[in-house]
Amino acid sequence: MLKKLAKVLLIMLCFQIHMCYAIPGKLVEIKDNIGTVDYFGEKRKVLMDSEAQAGDYVYAQGGVVISKIAEQDALKILDFWKEKFFELKKVDNQLAKIEDLEASDNLLEILQKVNLRKELNNNELLNLLRLKDKNELKLLYETANNLRQKEHDNACCVHGIIEFSNNCRRNCFYCGIRKDNNIKRYRMSAEEIISLAKHAVDNLGFKALVLQSGEDLSYTDEELVKVVKTIRKLGVLIFISIGTRKKELYKKLYDAGARAVLLRFETSNKELFKKVRPETNFEERIELIKYAKKIGYLIATGFIMGIPEETEQDIINNIILTKALKADMYSFGPLIPAKNTPLENQKQIDINSVLKVISLCRFMDVRSKILVTSAVETLHEDAKKQGLLAGANSLMINLTPHCYKELYSIYSGRPDKDITVKKNIKETIKLLYSLGRAPTDIGHT
Ligand code: 5AD
Ligand code: SF4
Repeated sequence: MLKKLAKVLLIMLCFQIHMCYAIPGKLVEIKDNIGTVDYFGEKRKVLMDSEAQAGDYVYAQGGVVISKIAEQDALKILDFWKEKFFELKKVDNQLAKIEDLEASDNLLEILQKVNLRKELNNNELLNLLRLKDKNELKLLYETANNLRQKEHDNACCVHGIIEFSNNCRRNCFYCGIRKDNNIKRYRMSAEEIISLAKHAVDNLGFKALVLQSGEDLSYTDEELVKVVKTIRKLGVLIFISIGTRKKELYKKLYDAGARAVLLRFETSNKELFKKVRPETNFEERIELIKYAKKIGYLIATGFIMGIPEETEQDIINNIILTKALKADMYSFGPLIPAKNTPLENQKQIDINSVLKVISLCRFMDVRSKILVTSAVETLHEDAKKQGLLAGANSLMINLTPHCYKELYSIYSGRPDKDITVKKNIKETIKLLYSLGRAPTDIGHT
């Protein structure tokens, strides 16, 4: 009885205090800065970025060891996970089966190629993008989900995002926080950002945080370095998402401990890019993404879907470019019209158009993490679930305080505007468990 009570308490602890976004594993070996971590007998390769030694228990995120954890704490958490881990896998396995659905020979042939891990040609990709039939779409999503499960098992990363300033020097036609939009602006102080991150790590259990802002030049390099250095010490993977800034700043932030960059190229069509992003430069943006990759950052990049005049071929080219940039994480979503912007009357694309692209990305780049972004969530109340069942394996939870969240109005009608962080975490974990996903990131097989 007592044992049962202790277990219930431990489960409650894991659910409510430390949300277990990562399972600790035992570092069994380190060779040339590559570690091998053991998770219940499954071995994963990780990049060492912590003082940990062989024999220590560690947390990894994005395939990077981010912190060491005391053995007794690790064992307590592992005790919770040891059954849950395998229970969840069973559910995921079940959901990742492909039904015997009616489909055209052409589609079956293409999907057969996918299952054999053969690369699809441009025509085949276009064919998939044009699917409309309900059964065929279902088959497409199930095939992508099956592939996701085979390659990544049931791991799903859940990152927290802090939007620390809505000031931006740019005037992108689609964006609600563009310079010319007359909105109330805010800018968090370094201390405010650090204290939010500390809360997210210490009290909410996050292991990866995205620090995002408009292109706000008022933060000095030194200030941003200080923020990153202090947050890195909390034992967390830091993504920076601050737009096109100087390469030197990206290097300084890497040296300070940031390990991932979220920077979309927005569209691979240079003409469209020029039209909707005045005074910014496509080549420069691509060059910056490549530079960040070269100096060691994990790269999260992608595009926005539904820019006026965008063609199906543009969408395929967007996926191809994301892959060519060696994205570790695909981040893309629909354009959601934002009030008082030049594109406020642009027609919104539908959820299936996005789900199809999620599946295509999975086919094109089986190893990648694919995000269901919050813009996708505005398209359908079930979008997170549908995205995760169409090949995606990554989510973000917004941690921006309520008073600022409303002002970070990149687009109108944010889906998470009124939900508290705690409720959002609770609902996300519930959804993930219902799908058999472990809110974890356990490195590369
Ligand atoms: N709808 C959807 N996404 C948008 N972004 C900017 N404006 C919008 C909008 N109206 C995306 C851009 C940018 C990211 C931070 O937000 O792709 O890279
Ligand atoms: Fe600024 Fe980014 Fe919005 Fe463009 S999309 S206006 S760069 S925040």
